[in-house]
Amino acid sequence: MTIRPIAEAEWPVFATVFREAFNSEAPPAVVDRYRALSELDRLLAAFDGDQMVGTAGALSFAMTVPGGTAPVAGVTLVSVLPSHRRRGILSAMMRRQLNDLHEGGEPVAALYPSEAAIYGRFGYGRAADSLTFDIPRHGAAFVPDAPTDPALRLRVADPARARKELEQVFEIVRAERPGQYARTAARWDDLLADEEFDRSGTGALRCVIAEDGSGPRGYALFRVKRKASEDDLPANELLLQELYAVDPAAYALVWRGVLERDLIARVRAWSRPVDDPLIHLLAEPRHLRPLWRDDLWVRVVDVGRALSARAYAAPVDLVFEVEDAYCPWNARCWRLSADGAGAVCEPSSAAADVTLPVSALGAAYLGGRPLVGMLRAGLIREHTRGAVARLSTAMSWEPRPCAALVF
Ligand SMILES: CC(C)(COP(=O)(O)OP(=O)(O)OC[C@H]1O[C@@H](n2cnc3c(N)ncnc32)[C@H](O)[C@@H]1OP(=O)(O)O)[C@@H](O)C(=O)NCCC(=O)NCCS
Repeated sequence: MTIRPIAEAEWPVFATVFREAFNSEAPPAVVDRYRALSELDRLLAAFDGDQMVGTAGALSFAMTVPGGTAPVAGVTLVSVLPSHRRRGILSAMMRRQLNDLHEGGEPVAALYPSEAAIYGRFGYGRAADSLTFDIPRHGAAFVPDAPTDPALRLRVADPARARKELEQVFEIVRAERPGQYARTAARWDDLLADEEFDRSGTGALRCVIAEDGSGPRGYALFRVKRKASEDDLPANELLLQELYAVDPAAYALVWRGVLERDLIARVRAWSRPVDDPLIHLLAEPRHLRPLWRDDLWVRVVDVGRALSARAYAAPVDLVFEVEDAYCPWNARCWRLSADGAGAVCEPSSAAADVTLPVSALGAAYLGGRPLVGMLRAGLIREHTRGAVARLSTAMSWEPRPCAALVF
């Protein structure tokens, strides 16, 4: 079994492998979009003799992390042909990718797993969660003191034509929430694509924008799935793709535009952050009927560089020992010293206050999964009383992380 980067001419075979592995029906035009999204020089393939049997890729993201932006490798297009599974090909590709990153790539990797049980063994930790809301029309009322702004108005827009305005809003909001990543032109092309494949049984992509005299302040992208009514009352479902706003009044107005739309029986919203302000705005939040799921998984590839690249919510100075079977360069003691002026994380020969698996560091990296929970679960060992609580508080962050756009 060989693992190596692919040549440009091998892209069609690469695409055939991942389409087969994912049971994908993506037509050629959509595969072309995947190619535009990919960075060809960062695609790896596994070969059994001459046959390509596995694929993996990385994207060069500028991702929001606590206190700023950091380079993060977005791991994607991971697949192994059904004929070659459970023989260690994924494991070998993961090992190769982590070595490559260590030798000249990003200190942190992130991915969306197809199944949550796969990547913990490779040192990834569940770093961000998201909620799915399923809100009936009669649950749309807001609390009486929900913010309003008379300068704001709602405009129906063609999503493709409104792209510049959407980009303008997104550029502001992405800097606030850890996990959000800068979108390339190809990413926006893909997000706004509206082919038969993208609709997959739902309606056209639609858009509303909240704006004032100075420009856009929020938007929602959604589709409406038409459903037959049994009692002559509306049964259609509004499927929210994304909703962003730069301030609370615009946020409330865009949600109103979605929730109060006529001839809609329910609004389904995926990938909402766990601290979505909508939770505070609905008069009866039980109508959210939230369903929890994992969003981003994070792998700390280089402990020193990764932990020095983010900010901390409280001063901290302690030594922790990392267990890491896949990246031996991480498996040692590290001293983390952070305060309002910055953070330094360096190898240390002092005794550890805490011992933890690298997946726990990945889970805590974006600030959304407190280490104290993993201590209570027995996944972290504390040697100095109170050390995990101090590290946990320092690594926590508001707002909670959420990437909300699968890559
Ligand atoms: C997921 C996939 C890439 C695994 O490839 P593979 O070459 O069979 O994986 P490996 O043989 O290296 O397995 C490594 C370990 O992960 C486990 N594993 C693999 N796939 C798993 C899954 N879907 N769920 C749980 N565990 C899984 C294996 O049992 C093995 O465990 P072990 O180390 O305890 O023996 C492959 O099944 C696939 O292509 N699936 C469909 C596409 C997909 O889901 N891709 C991932 C996108 S994020």
